[in-house]
Amino acid sequence: MAVEQTLIVVKPDGFKRQLTGKILARFEEKGFQIKNLKSYNFTKEKAQEFYSVHKDKPFFGELVSFISSGTVVACILEGNNAVNTVRLMIGATKSFEAAPGTIRGDFGLGFTDNIIHASDSPESFIKESRVIFG
Ligand code: PPS
Repeated sequence: MAVEQTLIVVKPDGFKRQLTGKILARFEEKGFQIKNLKSYNFTKEKAQEFYSVHKDKPFFGELVSFISSGTVVACILEGNNAVNTVRLMIGATKSFEAAPGTIRGDFGLGFTDNIIHASDSPESFIKESRVIFG
């Protein structure tokens, strides 16, 4: 099993609701190491770059507007199979359908406001982490 890195972003709803500590604790308890961490405010331009893979989707504007609506916390996590395991831990995109035991399943009911983002591939991790951490 390969040691990988991935990126998570606690979205503006998760940050405002003061869920950051609980969310990071879940990843630490699972065995992931925090390699980099910062609070961050997306500009519209940075948000468009971050979500560029969705630029032709009808919800692109809503996505960009929401992620740039307030402070987020971005974190690079490292551990075995990080990309897929972290995606399993965050749960389904629609929080109201996410399984109990996942972060979205336990903490939210929203869709655009779905608490947390995680990279969906090693390539996305490289691109997304460059947008935030340079
Ligand atoms: S897709 O089309 O399968 O690639 O999309 P998906 O992976 O489900 O979601 C990608 C991100 O877009 C957000 N999303 C939406 N936001 C607003 N409105 C609608 N209809 C919508 N559909 C998807 C979703 O929350 C994902 O955000 P991230 O930050 O990547 O989790």
